[in-house]
Amino acid sequence: MNAVMGPETGATDPIPFGRDAFAARLARYAARVDAELEAILTVPDVPERRLHEAMRYSASSGGKRIRPVLFLAVGDMLGGGSSLMLPFACALELIHAYSLIHDDLPAMDNDDFRRGRPTSHKVFGEAMAILAGDALLNRSYELMLKSVLEAGTESAADLARCVRAMRCLADAAGACGMVGGQVIDMESEGCQADRNLLERMHRLKTGALIRAAVASPAILCGAGPEEEAALALYADHLGLAFQIRDDLLDVQGTEAELGKPIGSDARNGKTTYVTLLGGDGARMALSDARRAALEALSGFGGRASFLREMAVFVADRTF
Ligand code: IPE
Ligand code: IPE
Ligand code: MG
Ligand code: MG
Ligand code: MG
Repeated sequence: MNAVMGPETGATDPIPFGRDAFAARLARYAARVDAELEAILTVPDVPERRLHEAMRYSASSGGKRIRPVLFLAVGDMLGGGSSLMLPFACALELIHAYSLIHDDLPAMDNDDFRRGRPTSHKVFGEAMAILAGDALLNRSYELMLKSVLEAGTESAADLARCVRAMRCLADAAGACGMVGGQVIDMESEGCQADRNLLERMHRLKTGALIRAAVASPAILCGAGPEEEAALALYADHLGLAFQIRDDLLDVQGTEAELGKPIGSDARNGKTTYVTLLGGDGARMALSDARRAALEALSGFGGRASFLREMAVFVADRTF
Protein backbone atom coordinates (compact mmCIF):
# COMPACT_ATOMS: atom_id res chain seq x y z
CA MET A 1 0.00 0.00 0.00
CA ASN A 2 1.16 3.52 -0.71
CA ALA A 3 -0.27 6.93 -1.48
CA VAL A 4 -1.95 5.73 -4.63
CA MET A 5 -3.03 2.25 -3.63
CA GLY A 6 -4.09 3.29 -0.14
CA PRO A 7 -6.76 1.83 2.15
CA GLU A 8 -10.26 1.45 0.86
CA THR A 9 -13.22 3.71 1.12
CA GLY A 10 -15.26 2.01 3.80
CA ALA A 11 -18.17 1.02 1.57
CA THR A 12 -17.97 -2.71 2.32
CA ASP A 13 -20.90 -4.15 4.22
CA PRO A 14 -20.65 -6.85 6.79
CA ILE A 15 -21.98 -10.28 5.84
CA PRO A 16 -24.80 -11.44 5.57
CA PHE A 17 -25.42 -9.74 2.28
CA GLY A 18 -28.84 -9.83 0.69
CA ARG A 19 -30.96 -7.94 -1.76
CA ASP A 20 -31.55 -5.03 0.61
CA ALA A 21 -27.88 -4.64 1.46
CA PHE A 22 -27.12 -4.75 -2.26
CA ALA A 23 -29.68 -2.04 -3.02
CA ALA A 24 -28.34 0.15 -0.24
CA ARG A 25 -24.76 -0.21 -1.34
CA LEU A 26 -25.67 0.33 -4.99
CA ALA A 27 -27.40 3.57 -3.99
CA ARG A 28 -24.41 4.68 -1.93
CA TYR A 29 -21.95 4.06 -4.74
CA ALA A 30 -24.24 5.76 -7.28
CA ALA A 31 -24.62 8.78 -5.01
CA ARG A 32 -20.86 9.14 -4.79
CA VAL A 33 -20.62 9.02 -8.58
CA ASP A 34 -23.47 11.52 -9.00
CA ALA A 35 -21.85 13.95 -6.57
CA GLU A 36 -18.44 13.66 -8.20
CA LEU A 37 -19.83 14.15 -11.69
CA GLU A 38 -21.80 17.18 -10.49
CA ALA A 39 -18.54 18.64 -9.24
CA ILE A 40 -16.63 17.80 -12.42
CA LEU A 41 -19.20 19.04 -14.91
CA THR A 42 -19.40 22.68 -13.99
CA VAL A 43 -20.59 25.23 -16.52
CA PRO A 44 -18.08 28.05 -16.88
CA ASP A 45 -19.15 31.51 -17.93
CA VAL A 46 -17.56 31.38 -21.37
CA PRO A 47 -18.94 32.03 -24.86
CA GLU A 48 -19.09 28.27 -25.52
CA ARG A 49 -20.98 27.57 -22.29
CA ARG A 50 -23.76 25.78 -24.21
CA LEU A 51 -21.31 22.94 -24.84
CA HIS A 52 -20.70 22.61 -21.11
CA GLU A 53 -24.44 22.69 -20.47
CA ALA A 54 -24.92 19.89 -22.97
CA MET A 55 -22.16 17.80 -21.36
CA ARG A 56 -23.68 18.28 -17.94
CA TYR A 57 -27.21 17.61 -19.20
CA SER A 58 -26.31 14.13 -20.40
CA ALA A 59 -23.82 13.03 -17.79
CA SER A 60 -24.82 14.57 -14.53
CA SER A 61 -27.74 12.45 -13.36
CA GLY A 62 -30.48 9.98 -14.02
CA GLY A 63 -28.57 6.87 -15.07
CA LYS A 64 -28.21 3.66 -13.10
CA ARG A 65 -24.44 4.21 -12.92
CA ILE A 66 -23.85 0.47 -13.29
CA ARG A 67 -20.38 0.82 -14.77
CA PRO A 68 -18.86 3.15 -12.17
CA VAL A 69 -20.62 1.23 -9.42
CA LEU A 70 -18.95 -1.96 -10.63
CA PHE A 71 -15.65 -0.13 -10.72
CA LEU A 72 -15.96 1.00 -7.11
CA ALA A 73 -17.26 -2.35 -5.92
CA VAL A 74 -14.37 -4.27 -7.46
CA GLY A 75 -11.94 -1.79 -5.93
CA ASP A 76 -13.48 -2.32 -2.51
CA MET A 77 -13.62 -6.08 -2.92
CA LEU A 78 -9.94 -6.23 -3.71
CA GLY A 79 -9.14 -3.90 -0.85
CA GLY A 80 -7.18 -1.59 -3.07
CA GLY A 81 -9.37 1.49 -3.01
CA SER A 82 -7.47 4.68 -3.57
CA SER A 83 -7.88 8.27 -4.57
CA LEU A 84 -7.95 7.05 -8.17
CA MET A 85 -10.99 4.82 -7.88
CA LEU A 86 -13.67 7.51 -7.97
CA PRO A 87 -12.16 9.62 -10.79
CA PHE A 88 -11.51 6.53 -12.91
CA ALA A 89 -15.04 5.26 -12.25
CA CYS A 90 -16.43 8.66 -13.28
CA ALA A 91 -14.20 8.72 -16.34
CA LEU A 92 -15.80 5.48 -17.45
CA GLU A 93 -19.28 6.94 -16.91
CA LEU A 94 -18.33 9.94 -19.07
CA ILE A 95 -17.46 7.57 -21.91
CA HIS A 96 -20.79 5.83 -21.41
CA ALA A 97 -22.64 9.17 -21.44
CA TYR A 98 -20.98 10.14 -24.71
CA SER A 99 -21.87 6.77 -26.23
CA LEU A 100 -25.53 7.31 -25.36
CA ILE A 101 -25.66 10.80 -26.88
CA HIS A 102 -24.26 9.49 -30.14
CA ASP A 103 -26.37 6.31 -30.03
CA ASP A 104 -29.54 8.43 -29.89
CA LEU A 105 -28.64 10.70 -32.82
CA PRO A 106 -30.84 10.72 -35.94
CA ALA A 107 -28.01 9.09 -37.89
CA MET A 108 -27.99 6.20 -35.42
CA ASP A 109 -31.03 5.06 -33.41
CA ASN A 110 -32.91 8.35 -33.77
CA ASP A 111 -34.42 8.27 -30.30
CA ASP A 112 -36.05 11.27 -28.66
CA PHE A 113 -35.96 10.29 -25.00
CA ARG A 114 -33.25 9.11 -22.64
CA ARG A 115 -33.46 8.83 -18.88
CA GLY A 116 -36.93 10.32 -18.97
CA ARG A 117 -35.83 13.50 -20.70
CA PRO A 118 -35.48 14.67 -24.31
CA THR A 119 -32.23 13.44 -25.85
CA SER A 120 -29.30 15.77 -26.27
CA HIS A 121 -29.92 16.54 -29.94
CA LYS A 122 -33.56 17.38 -29.18
CA VAL A 123 -32.49 19.99 -26.64
CA PHE A 124 -29.23 21.29 -28.03
CA GLY A 125 -29.40 20.41 -31.74
CA GLU A 126 -27.50 17.76 -33.60
CA ALA A 127 -24.20 19.55 -34.04
CA MET A 128 -23.95 20.40 -30.35
CA ALA A 129 -24.91 16.85 -29.37
CA ILE A 130 -22.10 15.46 -31.49
CA LEU A 131 -19.66 17.93 -29.99
CA ALA A 132 -20.85 17.29 -26.44
CA GLY A 133 -20.20 13.59 -27.00
CA ASP A 134 -16.73 14.34 -28.35
CA ALA A 135 -16.00 16.58 -25.39
CA LEU A 136 -17.22 14.04 -22.83
CA LEU A 137 -14.92 11.42 -24.32
CA ASN A 138 -12.00 13.80 -24.04
CA ARG A 139 -13.00 14.84 -20.54
CA SER A 140 -12.76 11.21 -19.53
CA TYR A 141 -9.07 11.01 -20.39
CA GLU A 142 -8.40 14.47 -18.98
CA LEU A 143 -9.91 13.33 -15.70
CA MET A 144 -7.87 10.14 -15.47
CA LEU A 145 -4.61 11.85 -16.34
CA LYS A 146 -5.27 14.69 -13.90
CA SER A 147 -6.07 12.28 -11.08
CA VAL A 148 -2.92 10.25 -11.69
CA LEU A 149 -0.79 13.39 -11.69
CA GLU A 150 -2.45 14.65 -8.52
CA ALA A 151 -2.15 11.31 -6.74
CA GLY A 152 1.60 11.75 -6.78
CA THR A 153 2.26 8.16 -7.79
CA GLU A 154 5.51 7.22 -6.13
CA SER A 155 6.83 4.12 -7.82
CA ALA A 156 7.28 3.09 -11.42
CA ALA A 157 5.18 -0.01 -10.69
CA ASP A 158 2.24 2.12 -9.50
CA LEU A 159 2.50 4.35 -12.51
CA ALA A 160 2.59 1.33 -14.81
CA ARG A 161 -0.61 0.08 -13.19
CA CYS A 162 -2.31 3.42 -13.76
CA VAL A 163 -1.30 3.42 -17.41
CA ARG A 164 -2.50 -0.18 -17.87
CA ALA A 165 -5.82 0.66 -16.20
CA MET A 166 -6.28 3.64 -18.52
CA ARG A 167 -5.34 1.59 -21.53
CA CYS A 168 -7.93 -0.98 -20.54
CA LEU A 169 -10.64 1.70 -20.64
CA ALA A 170 -9.31 3.18 -23.88
CA ASP A 171 -9.30 -0.20 -25.62
CA ALA A 172 -12.83 -0.92 -24.45
CA ALA A 173 -14.15 2.39 -25.73
CA GLY A 174 -12.63 2.30 -29.19
CA ALA A 175 -12.72 0.48 -32.50
CA CYS A 176 -11.98 -2.89 -30.91
CA GLY A 177 -14.66 -2.29 -28.27
CA MET A 178 -17.78 -0.17 -28.00
CA VAL A 179 -17.40 1.79 -31.24
CA GLY A 180 -16.70 -1.41 -33.18
CA GLY A 181 -19.86 -2.93 -31.73
CA GLN A 182 -21.89 0.10 -32.72
CA VAL A 183 -20.60 -0.30 -36.28
CA ILE A 184 -21.83 -3.90 -36.40
CA ASP A 185 -25.14 -2.68 -34.99
CA MET A 186 -25.53 -0.04 -37.70
CA GLU A 187 -24.31 -2.23 -40.56
CA SER A 188 -26.68 -5.03 -39.70
CA GLU A 189 -29.77 -2.83 -39.61
CA GLY A 190 -32.41 -4.24 -41.91
CA CYS A 191 -30.77 -7.64 -42.28
CA GLN A 192 -30.91 -10.48 -39.78
CA ALA A 193 -27.45 -10.99 -38.26
CA ASP A 194 -26.60 -14.57 -37.32
CA ARG A 195 -26.08 -15.65 -33.73
CA ASN A 196 -22.29 -15.33 -33.86
CA LEU A 197 -22.37 -11.82 -35.23
CA LEU A 198 -25.10 -10.81 -32.80
CA GLU A 199 -23.11 -12.08 -29.85
CA ARG A 200 -20.01 -10.28 -31.09
CA MET A 201 -22.01 -7.09 -31.47
CA HIS A 202 -23.34 -7.31 -27.91
CA ARG A 203 -19.97 -8.20 -26.43
CA LEU A 204 -18.45 -5.18 -28.12
CA LYS A 205 -21.06 -2.46 -28.02
CA THR A 206 -22.09 -3.08 -24.43
CA GLY A 207 -19.91 -5.81 -23.00
CA ALA A 208 -16.60 -4.06 -23.59
CA LEU A 209 -17.29 -1.13 -21.25
CA ILE A 210 -18.77 -3.42 -18.62
CA ARG A 211 -15.73 -5.66 -18.84
CA ALA A 212 -13.50 -2.61 -18.42
CA ALA A 213 -15.55 -1.54 -15.39
CA VAL A 214 -14.32 -4.71 -13.71
CA ALA A 215 -10.93 -5.26 -15.33
CA SER A 216 -9.60 -1.73 -14.92
CA PRO A 217 -10.02 -1.54 -11.11
CA ALA A 218 -8.57 -5.04 -10.84
CA ILE A 219 -5.45 -3.74 -12.57
CA LEU A 220 -5.33 -0.63 -10.37
CA CYS A 221 -5.58 -2.81 -7.28
CA GLY A 222 -2.78 -5.06 -8.42
CA ALA A 223 -4.92 -8.21 -8.65
CA GLY A 224 -3.05 -11.37 -9.57
CA PRO A 225 -3.50 -12.94 -13.01
CA GLU A 226 -5.96 -15.56 -11.77
CA GLU A 227 -8.18 -13.02 -10.07
CA GLU A 228 -7.97 -10.74 -13.08
CA ALA A 229 -8.98 -13.56 -15.41
CA ALA A 230 -11.89 -14.70 -13.24
CA LEU A 231 -13.21 -11.17 -12.90
CA ALA A 232 -12.89 -10.54 -16.64
CA LEU A 233 -14.85 -13.74 -17.31
CA TYR A 234 -17.56 -12.64 -14.88
CA ALA A 235 -17.76 -9.26 -16.60
CA ASP A 236 -17.90 -10.81 -20.08
CA HIS A 237 -20.98 -12.77 -19.12
CA LEU A 238 -22.45 -9.86 -17.19
CA GLY A 239 -22.07 -7.56 -20.21
CA LEU A 240 -23.81 -10.02 -22.48
CA ALA A 241 -26.59 -10.49 -19.93
CA PHE A 242 -26.94 -6.72 -19.65
CA GLN A 243 -27.54 -6.26 -23.38
CA ILE A 244 -29.84 -9.28 -23.73
CA ARG A 245 -31.95 -7.77 -20.95
CA ASP A 246 -31.88 -4.45 -22.80
CA ASP A 247 -33.14 -6.23 -25.93
CA LEU A 248 -35.96 -7.81 -23.94
CA LEU A 249 -36.88 -4.52 -22.31
CA ASP A 250 -37.15 -2.86 -25.72
CA VAL A 251 -40.05 -5.23 -26.32
CA GLN A 252 -41.48 -5.87 -22.87
CA GLY A 253 -40.49 -2.84 -20.83
CA THR A 254 -42.39 0.34 -20.24
CA GLU A 255 -41.23 3.74 -21.35
CA ALA A 256 -42.22 5.13 -17.96
CA GLU A 257 -39.80 2.82 -16.15
CA LEU A 258 -37.03 2.78 -18.75
CA GLY A 259 -37.05 6.50 -19.46
CA LYS A 260 -36.37 5.71 -23.13
CA PRO A 261 -38.69 4.62 -25.93
CA ILE A 262 -39.61 0.99 -26.32
CA GLY A 263 -39.86 -0.47 -29.80
CA SER A 264 -36.78 1.41 -30.97
CA ASP A 265 -35.07 -1.79 -32.13
CA ALA A 266 -38.04 -2.91 -34.25
CA ARG A 267 -38.43 0.57 -35.73
CA ASN A 268 -34.77 0.50 -36.79
CA GLY A 269 -34.82 -3.08 -38.09
CA LYS A 270 -32.21 -4.24 -35.57
CA THR A 271 -31.32 -7.84 -34.98
CA THR A 272 -31.60 -8.54 -31.26
CA TYR A 273 -31.71 -11.65 -29.09
CA VAL A 274 -35.50 -11.32 -29.23
CA THR A 275 -35.78 -11.10 -33.02
CA LEU A 276 -33.31 -13.95 -33.49
CA LEU A 277 -34.36 -16.35 -30.72
CA GLY A 278 -37.81 -15.15 -29.66
CA GLY A 279 -38.69 -14.04 -26.14
CA ASP A 280 -38.20 -17.49 -24.58
CA GLY A 281 -34.90 -18.04 -26.40
CA ALA A 282 -33.65 -14.64 -25.30
CA ARG A 283 -34.63 -15.34 -21.70
CA MET A 284 -32.80 -18.67 -21.86
CA ALA A 285 -29.66 -17.01 -23.22
CA LEU A 286 -29.96 -14.42 -20.48
CA SER A 287 -30.26 -17.08 -17.82
CA ASP A 288 -27.21 -18.90 -19.25
CA ALA A 289 -25.17 -15.70 -19.19
CA ARG A 290 -26.20 -14.96 -15.63
CA ARG A 291 -25.33 -18.49 -14.49
CA ALA A 292 -21.93 -18.27 -16.18
CA ALA A 293 -21.27 -14.90 -14.54
CA LEU A 294 -22.04 -16.35 -11.13
CA GLU A 295 -19.87 -19.40 -11.77
CA ALA A 296 -16.92 -17.22 -12.66
CA LEU A 297 -17.05 -15.78 -9.14
CA SER A 298 -16.89 -19.14 -7.39
CA GLY A 299 -13.33 -18.64 -6.21
CA PHE A 300 -14.08 -15.39 -4.39
CA GLY A 301 -16.39 -16.68 -1.66
CA GLY A 302 -18.25 -14.10 0.38
CA ARG A 303 -16.07 -11.28 -0.90
CA ALA A 304 -17.99 -11.31 -4.19
CA SER A 305 -21.49 -11.04 -2.69
CA PHE A 306 -22.09 -7.62 -4.18
CA LEU A 307 -20.95 -8.73 -7.63
CA ARG A 308 -23.22 -11.78 -7.40
CA GLU A 309 -26.21 -9.63 -6.53
CA MET A 310 -25.24 -7.36 -9.40
CA ALA A 311 -25.58 -10.26 -11.85
CA VAL A 312 -29.06 -11.00 -10.51
CA PHE A 313 -29.99 -7.33 -10.66
CA VAL A 314 -28.79 -6.96 -14.25
CA ALA A 315 -30.69 -10.02 -15.41
CA ASP A 316 -33.95 -9.10 -13.64
CA ARG A 317 -33.96 -5.36 -14.05
CA THR A 318 -37.00 -3.54 -15.39
CA PHE A 319 -35.19 -0.24 -16.08
C1 IPE B 1 -27.92 1.86 -21.90
O1 IPE B 1 -27.12 1.61 -20.79
C2 IPE B 1 -27.17 1.47 -23.12
C3 IPE B 1 -26.88 0.05 -23.19
C4 IPE B 1 -25.67 -0.39 -23.23
C5 IPE B 1 -27.95 -0.90 -23.25
P1 IPE B 1 -27.71 1.73 -19.33
O2 IPE B 1 -28.96 0.89 -19.23
O3 IPE B 1 -26.64 1.46 -18.35
O4 IPE B 1 -28.15 3.25 -19.27
P2 IPE B 1 -28.21 4.25 -18.03
O5 IPE B 1 -26.84 4.80 -17.86
O6 IPE B 1 -28.70 3.51 -16.83
O7 IPE B 1 -29.18 5.31 -18.48
C1 IPE C 1 -26.44 0.88 -27.25
O1 IPE C 1 -27.29 -0.19 -27.43
C2 IPE C 1 -25.16 0.53 -26.75
C3 IPE C 1 -24.26 1.69 -26.72
C4 IPE C 1 -23.04 1.57 -27.03
C5 IPE C 1 -24.75 3.03 -26.36
P1 IPE C 1 -28.81 0.27 -27.60
O2 IPE C 1 -28.97 1.18 -28.74
O3 IPE C 1 -29.68 -0.93 -27.53
O4 IPE C 1 -29.01 1.10 -26.23
P2 IPE C 1 -30.35 1.86 -25.86
O5 IPE C 1 -31.44 0.84 -25.86
O6 IPE C 1 -30.55 2.93 -26.86
O7 IPE C 1 -30.09 2.38 -24.48
MG1 MG D 1 -28.02 1.53 -30.53
MG1 MG E 1 -30.15 2.96 -28.82
MG1 MG F 1 -31.52 -1.00 -26.58
